[in-house]
Amino acid sequence: MILIKGGTVVGPTGPYQADVLVVGEQVSAIFAPDQGPQEGDFETIDATGKYVIPGGVDAHTHMELPFGGTFASDTFDTGTRAAAWGGTTTIIDFAVQRTGEVVQDGLAAWHGKADGNCHVDYAFHMILGGVDDESLKAMDTLVTDEGITSFKLFMAYPGVFYSDDGQILRAMQKARDNGAMIMMHAENGPAIDVLVKQALERGETDPIHHGLTRPEALEAEATSRAIWLAGVAADCPLYIVHLSASKALEQVAAARDLGRNVFAETCPQYLYLTLEDQLGAPGFEGAKWVCSTPLRSKHETHRADLWKGLRSNDLSVVSTDHCPFCFKDQKELGIGDFSKIPNGIGSVEHRVDLLYQGVVDGKLSLGRWVETIATTPARMFGLYPKKGIIAPGSDADIVLYDPAARTRIGVETHHMNMDHSAWEGYEIAGKVDTVISRGRVLVKDGAYHGAKGHGQFVRRGLSDYLI
Ligand code: URP
Ligand code: ZN
Ligand code: ZN
Ligand code: ZN
Repeated sequence: MILIKGGTVVGPTGPYQADVLVVGEQVSAIFAPDQGPQEGDFETIDATGKYVIPGGVDAHTHMELPFGGTFASDTFDTGTRAAAWGGTTTIIDFAVQRTGEVVQDGLAAWHGKADGNCHVDYAFHMILGGVDDESLKAMDTLVTDEGITSFKLFMAYPGVFYSDDGQILRAMQKARDNGAMIMMHAENGPAIDVLVKQALERGETDPIHHGLTRPEALEAEATSRAIWLAGVAADCPLYIVHLSASKALEQVAAARDLGRNVFAETCPQYLYLTLEDQLGAPGFEGAKWVCSTPLRSKHETHRADLWKGLRSNDLSVVSTDHCPFCFKDQKELGIGDFSKIPNGIGSVEHRVDLLYQGVVDGKLSLGRWVETIATTPARMFGLYPKKGIIAPGSDADIVLYDPAARTRIGVETHHMNMDHSAWEGYEIAGKVDTVISRGRVLVKDGAYHGAKGHGQFVRRGLSDYLI
């Protein structure tokens, strides 16, 4: 038993003073200050001056993802350990069905990578790399038998993960019938491929051209098309991943204003980093920030609009899209050809801290911070109320967050398996102090007490977030 005493508990509706009793793997009770058990067989953790929040739920990670001739550099072991350090106690990773592969085989391969190796709990979405009769049937099986209730499709990456509009519509119709969520990588891949080819023919090979060949219009167009297609599929639930651009956000906001089941996430990189300052860094340095959708221009209103979208709930979730690649030997695959740089940024360890900055800067309330990093992702993807809330009966996934401490982000201190940090030198007001996962203390007093194998696979139900 653990009694977390003297803290400010923060839920999606805001902060309140309370003591939290953990028995075994669950939260047992929440008491008004000092009204809980006074003595007994429990460890007391002093939370005075700290926020007591539900463990973070990162609904978008790619451990060990094969991409661009290499693999994302975090394994489930290293990546979930880094997540724990950063206050994230559940990840939802993407199992992959590659084109031509049987869906269930792709899923089994992902279980093979993750099972027994995770430090925090984990669940899977399924990437459909090929929509056909077989994979449509498999969608039903995954929902009913495997606890996998969301499917990611790609309007980008022709020849790799790409689905055409007919395939997308069929998958959406299936999801409408079985209750699953369609997650969309919304960028017009065929049009992007034309721009990439033309840029390379002009000798434009530096990393910044990754961003310049993926213009906002092609994200907005794909987002709009996905929304229209979901409408044709009788308002199939649609979740736009890694939304980066103002005009894509406008499409989502307009659909939501019509009461549609359309949702979106953004990621910390789009809230802070830019095409010019990071992707456009001198020489090949910008490769560190090659991800898709790309970082957007600082001369436009993207970042301010995304923060506003988080406040208005046009953006419901912040995930990381954690997809790390080392600079040496991995990002370097694209020297002389930006299109060969593996796409992805690693930040599974920093999401809770980076979003707390929004509270410090007056852009988010405390409740909204918790809602976007924990409660809503849990609800959106069928993990609630097991995850995403501190309540009796919920898993005791709890983070003590110290607003008076500071975090300096960088390669010397992070725990991700990366030789650089996209956030090198960032100073954060606030710090993850203590991390508890299903009643087990993983991080306390700057030391790590977790172990691989503690994290369990979680079967998910259907989303309870639909309009
Ligand atoms: O650049 C990215 N986002 N890499 C991961 C794959 C994806 O599309 O989410
Ligand atoms: Zn994507
Ligand atoms: Zn609105
Ligand atoms: Zn992704």
